[in-house]
Amino acid sequence: MIGQTFLHGGDYNPEQWDEDTWLEDMRLAKLANVNTMTVGIFSWSMLELKEGEYNFGWLDRIFELLNENGMKAVLATPSAAQPRWMSEKYPEVLRTDYNRVRQEHKVRVNYCLTSPIYRQKCAEMTRLLAERYGKNPALVMWHVSNEYHGDCHCELCQEAFRGWVKERYKTLDNLNEKWGTAFWSHYYSDWSEIRSPQPWPAGEWSMFSLGVAWKRFNSELTVDFFLNEANVIREITPDILVTSNIHTWDFNWRVLTEVVDIVSYDSYPRFEANEGDCFRGLNASFKYDYMRGLKRKPFILMENNPSSPPGTKLRRPGYHITKAMQAVSAGSDSFMYFQWRNGKTSNEMFHGAVVNHDGRSDTRAFQEVSKVGKILEDIQDVCGAPIEAEVALIYDEENHWGIEFATSARWDERSYDNQVRDHYRPFWNRGIAVDVIPSVNDFAPYKVLVAPVLYMLLPGVAERITEFVKNGGTFVTTFWSGYVDDDNYAITGGAPGYMSKVLGIRSEELDACENAIEFNGKSWNTLHFADIIHSEGAEVISTFKNEFYAGSPALTCNSYGSGKAYYMCAAHDENFMNEFYGGLIKDAGVRALYDRPLPKGVTCRERGGKLFVMNFAPVSHEVTLPSGEMIVVGAGQTKII
Ligand code: GAL
Repeated sequence: MIGQTFLHGGDYNPEQWDEDTWLEDMRLAKLANVNTMTVGIFSWSMLELKEGEYNFGWLDRIFELLNENGMKAVLATPSAAQPRWMSEKYPEVLRTDYNRVRQEHKVRVNYCLTSPIYRQKCAEMTRLLAERYGKNPALVMWHVSNEYHGDCHCELCQEAFRGWVKERYKTLDNLNEKWGTAFWSHYYSDWSEIRSPQPWPAGEWSMFSLGVAWKRFNSELTVDFFLNEANVIREITPDILVTSNIHTWDFNWRVLTEVVDIVSYDSYPRFEANEGDCFRGLNASFKYDYMRGLKRKPFILMENNPSSPPGTKLRRPGYHITKAMQAVSAGSDSFMYFQWRNGKTSNEMFHGAVVNHDGRSDTRAFQEVSKVGKILEDIQDVCGAPIEAEVALIYDEENHWGIEFATSARWDERSYDNQVRDHYRPFWNRGIAVDVIPSVNDFAPYKVLVAPVLYMLLPGVAERITEFVKNGGTFVTTFWSGYVDDDNYAITGGAPGYMSKVLGIRSEELDACENAIEFNGKSWNTLHFADIIHSEGAEVISTFKNEFYAGSPALTCNSYGSGKAYYMCAAHDENFMNEFYGGLIKDAGVRALYDRPLPKGVTCRERGGKLFVMNFAPVSHEVTLPSGEMIVVGAGQTKII
């Protein structure tokens, strides 16, 4: 079913309701054109009321009802929230914060990722679920845990970290060298002295290499935690896809996506919060393109908000359908909600839901959900269709961490995230699909590779970029690139480090300053940064006009092998980026439906033989289709052609 029929439905918590409500849910689900329910995410204490006292009856009945009503189940393992009895009996399952204080049983995602008892309990519960429901015809996919995030600083995790560090660095001498411990007398004389970093002023925050190592360790520890359950599932139900839903960003998702069968993502763009803020539309597309880019395959949109909570700015009519079509046209094979029905109490009782506390089907939210379900049925051919982007943009979590640690450059609102989106926007404005990828992914499928602010060069990346250009690719990078290696260790010899040869330049100083340049016969003001560089073979396309470095290169292009490598010394506004990338897209032969930007806030995407034209702006826009026909796309609306 996955990749053939769009999944439409969402998180369902029948354990909070009685059988009459379940029957009503089945009736309503059909009216809403919903075909899938995700069950079990936080259900552990309802499945095992006390240690060893199981209660699967309610879930058995839900599976029965789903089958009777022709619906499918995404079944979650409940490890995102351990039951209270477990925290009481085995306190080691609770998380310890960076102050080394063990937390009380609370909220959710409050478990230790290392605890052997927790892992054992998770594997046992997973086995029970897989044995009981593995052959159930309703089961369509496994949803392991929920939205991994955070870290635990208990002694078990510290010990695991020491083991990870030993494995990576082999000798203390090597570790001391790579972490630069001669600085401020931070030398390690024994492995046992290694401990997790802490924010200022509690503990160690000044060692950038330790900071990156801790984040990297936690990403890998999470993968290991995932596999503890996924391995059991794969042993019992080898044919059912296994995923785990991605949400927060302080994580190296690449390592998780290597072990899931299909990427899934929870998306909460609040287009309604600031009507007319087209950035939110662009940002949501960016994230979908990342989810697809991670594996260069369609993904599952596992959660999104079907309506706005009371007392917040309400989603305007039309935006819900546009949000759905945006995800689907970017490669999602589903459109799933959090949540199906509003809970009666606690933290998410007023969260958006398909069925509100009034229980009605004639609400605006319910009607829009139902329309989405109908549209998904009508465009079934699009499901599973690949998107073969010719452009890739590197967004690297590890690079992100490196930049965050660097105490020198003035980041704030000019953050890495914003720089990356500035380079993504010219493609979005023209409806060109971009695979957003980590730097370790293959570059071969692409004609254009963009890597804004590639501060940290992971092993082999510069070599692969060089190969990509040599073989005819077009590469673009910017200021503040090629400074450190994967340990956050300075690349000596100067920036842009191992990319100097392919770029044919050398950077000397990086100024935080506005300036101006000439490009394509026009004058442009630059933003935020000005990199003072020297050409070492690259053609100088533009020079800076002001300051003591007036006349020094501001934009260069190096011909290398049969390709080209551009270096942009400054940040630029949208108009310049449209102009620069407009020329580059043509020059590199990238397939584009439009040779100029669409009206502000409008984007389009092609998938499965259909064209989706979406308007995220608060006003209607006229759009000329590639066929020459003129259409009007209303505020927050989509046309599918
Ligand atoms: C998600 C989470 C859901 C629900 C939702 C509310 O991040 O997975 O369980 O809490 O947020 O927006």
